Amino acid sequence: MRVLIVGCGYVGLPLGAELARRGHEVFGLRRTADGEGELRAAGVAPVVGDVTQPESLRALPEPFDWVVNTVSSSKGGAEVYRAVYVEGTRNLIAWLAGSGVRKFIHTSSTSVYAQTDGGVVTEESAAEPLTETGRLLVETEGLLLAAAREQKFPAVVLRVAGIYGPGRGHLFHQFLRDEARISGDGSRLLNMIHRDDVVGAAIAALERGEPGRIYNVADDESVSQLEFFRWLSEQLDKPLPPRASAEENAGRKRGVTNKRVSNRRLREELGWVPRYPSFREGYAEDVKRNA
Ligand SMILES: NC(=O)c1ccc[n+]([C@@H]2O[C@H](COP(=O)([O-])OP(=O)(O)OC[C@H]3O[C@@H](n4cnc5c(N)ncnc54)[C@H](OP(=O)(O)O)[C@@H]3O)[C@@H](O)[C@H]2O)c1
Repeated sequence: MRVLIVGCGYVGLPLGAELARRGHEVFGLRRTADGEGELRAAGVAPVVGDVTQPESLRALPEPFDWVVNTVSSSKGGAEVYRAVYVEGTRNLIAWLAGSGVRKFIHTSSTSVYAQTDGGVVTEESAAEPLTETGRLLVETEGLLLAAAREQKFPAVVLRVAGIYGPGRGHLFHQFLRDEARISGDGSRLLNMIHRDDVVGAAIAALERGEPGRIYNVADDESVSQLEFFRWLSEQLDKPLPPRASAEENAGRKRGVTNKRVSNRRLREELGWVPRYPSFREGYAEDVKRNA
């Protein structure tokens, strides 16, 4: 297959490397040529473009059989979300519809689920986020699902949990730097996924994903923040982090969710099996290195 990875970064680069290893012809798109060496070393042909600039997409070396959109907001706010996710996706659909593309994978987020009761969340559960950025992700998904329905655009949506892996993992790094705080009573559930298992899910979706369908991408074990820190404390022989102040807790309230994201559909329908079923396996190497 000729594959284009749009936003070939933290997830896109190892995904491109794995697809190239499997014999596909892979192109990786970023906004600048700065990382060309890194892409080439992974067996990915670098291309430059910007999803917010449709003319830059039309200059790409078409046609592509598979397209994966792993563009991120680069930590920007709602304005960037609208430009990169909503308008960027609109531009990608307009550019690719009718091009013969066979599968289009979009990486959305489990942050679209606003549930706070700690219950199990499946793809059938309500996706009614309270934050503006969450709503923009739902709007983006809506564009893709409508295109799948109305134009037979072969879009598959992956709702991805908090990604960790080499060099990534917000709470883990805060813990190492002694900057972590236990929020509230620590009972809020975290839903995580190792980067390499996002890569596996994207490949499963490219090969077997059903257009117009949503799949959650999370590991097997939602874990409370307190339990996660407890495990790190034991493994690294460090004290538990202190509790957050009332002020810090109040500041975090908005958009804070509490849920167990189910990966059952991804497992059962696409045969995906996580290499790292929980944070314990996923962080084992990092923990060993920092012990
Ligand atoms: N991080 C998480 O925990 C998490 C959770 C759920 C879902 N996700 C989603 O998972 C996907 C992959 O995340 P990631 O961490 O791999 O992302 P990332 O590395 O932060 O960014 C991906 C790439 O997007 C490129 N990019 C940014 N703006 C662009 C634009 N306008 N046009 C073209 N390329 C652009 C960046 O390259 P340049 O800056 O060089 O252009 C970067 O290489 C994203 O869709 C993200 O929203 C992430």
